[in-house]
This record gives sequence, structure tokens and C-alpha cells, in this order.
Amino acid sequence: MLEWSQANSVRCLYLLADPNSTQTAGLAHRLDFKFVDVRVQLSLEIGAPNASKVQESRARTAREPDIPALQAIARGAHQDSRFFFDTNFPRARAEDLFATWIAKDCAGRADKVLTVERGSSGPLGYITCNLSKDSNTGRIGLVGVASEFRGKGVGKTLICGALQWFWSVGAQKIAVVTQMRNVAAQRLYQRAGFRTESVRVWYHRWF
Ligand SMILES: CC(C)(COP(=O)(O)OP(=O)(O)OC[C@H]1O[C@@H](n2cnc3c(N)ncnc32)[C@H](O)[C@@H]1OP(=O)(O)O)[C@@H](O)C(=O)NCCC(=O)NCCS
Repeated sequence: MLEWSQANSVRCLYLLADPNSTQTAGLAHRLDFKFVDVRVQLSLEIGAPNASKVQESRARTAREPDIPALQAIARGAHQDSRFFFDTNFPRARAEDLFATWIAKDCAGRADKVLTVERGSSGPLGYITCNLSKDSNTGRIGLVGVASEFRGKGVGKTLICGALQWFWSVGAQKIAVVTQMRNVAAQRLYQRAGFRTESVRVWYHRWF
């Protein structure tokens, strides 16, 4: 892989490793892979949402005019990700990654994108939802809340709206990925009933 990467002008090679393998950890170290993240996948089996939760959710579908506001949030929201932790990536490019991600998801790449507004605030955050082909399983992609509105229940409203949408289209199991260093996100998902399903280690090898 290293030879192939060099021959093909790859600048950064990602390795997603089993944390139980001493051999992989040793080899990664010897071959100059840098540890950048612990990937935590959580999942939830969903049942019918109860009435109080349905009332609680005031999330709405994000539309094209919301994109600039959501991009501004996305640029600053994902600093726990490996693209910010690994400072070989220029910060502006890491910000662009998430701004592009949310714009593409809103433009139809995701099956559903929800946002929340309070009064005339404009969009305060986003959650993107993807469905498997058979609609049985769902995956939450990107979640973010504007920094000045965190800790005020916006994240909870977004999760609640997403779970209602997944339930309405027949999904039974929902998965989401976050970082081990992102305690706020883990607690947000745990609060909604998600439980840890798997853990993997991310390494980057630069050339
Ligand atoms: C993670 C994030 C979406 C949470 O949104 P939020 O609107 O602040 O969350 P809420 O106010 O709705 O809180 C919901 C639950 O999350 C937990 N939580 C939220 N922020 C927390 C923090 N800083 N520390 C610990 N727990 C936190 C709490 O358990 C809370 O439930 P409770 O108050 O009933 O106990 C927000 O912090 C954010 O945008 N972070 C940056 C982007 C990000 O990390 N996205 C996830 C990528 S996978």
C-alpha cells in the first residue's frame, strides 16, 4: 500500500484499524502512521416515537436558502474531527470539507436534512440522514449546532426530528459515528438511547 500510494502521488493515506490488534498498532508505529482519532460507532433500535417526543421536535426540512447559514455553522463545528486534529491539513481546507459536505447533503446527497429555528433566528444547526437501499437501516451523517446556541436543546430537537423521520420511512436501526474525544456528541446520542457498537482507530500516513 505504501509503494502504491507513492507511485500514485497519494499525499495522505488513511488507516482504520482494529484497536485489539497489537500487531497492527506496532506496524502502524513502525511505518510512521500517526494516530489521529478513535472512531466510535453508536446505534439505536427505534420503536414508535412517543407523543411527548413528537411534540418536542420542532425540526424542519432544510432547504436551499438555508445552505449559506448551515455552511457557516459547519465551518466551525467539527474541530474534534481528525481533519482538524491532523494539522498537516490546512485549517481552511478542513473547514471547506465540512462546508462542502453540508451543502452537498442539502442539495440531495442525503435522504433528509433537518434544521431548527427559534423565532426569527434563522437555521441554528443541522442533522443529515441517510437510508440504506431497503430502508431498514439509517445513518446519521453530520450534526452541528451554532456555537452560541449549544447546550440549549437544539441538538436534542434535531436528533428527535431525525428519529421521527427515520421511523416514518420504516428504518429500524440507526447508526452514527463520532470521535472518542467528542464527549458532547457521545452524550447527545447516549441521551437519545444510542449505545456504543464498535470502536476503531484512525491513523494517517503522510508522504
Ligand atoms: C454535539 C452538539 C451537536 C450538541 O448539541 P447541543 O444543542 O449543544 O445539545 P443539547 O443542548 O440538545 O444537549 C443534548 C444532550 O447532549 C449532552 N451534551 C450536550 N453538550 C454537552 C457538553 N458540552 N458536555 C456534555 N454533554 C453535553 C447532554 O447530555 C444533553 O442532554 P441533557 O442536557 O438532557 O443531559 C453540539 O455540541 C455541537 O454542535 N458540537 C460541535 C459539532 C459536533 O461535535 N457534532 C457531532 C459530530 S459527530
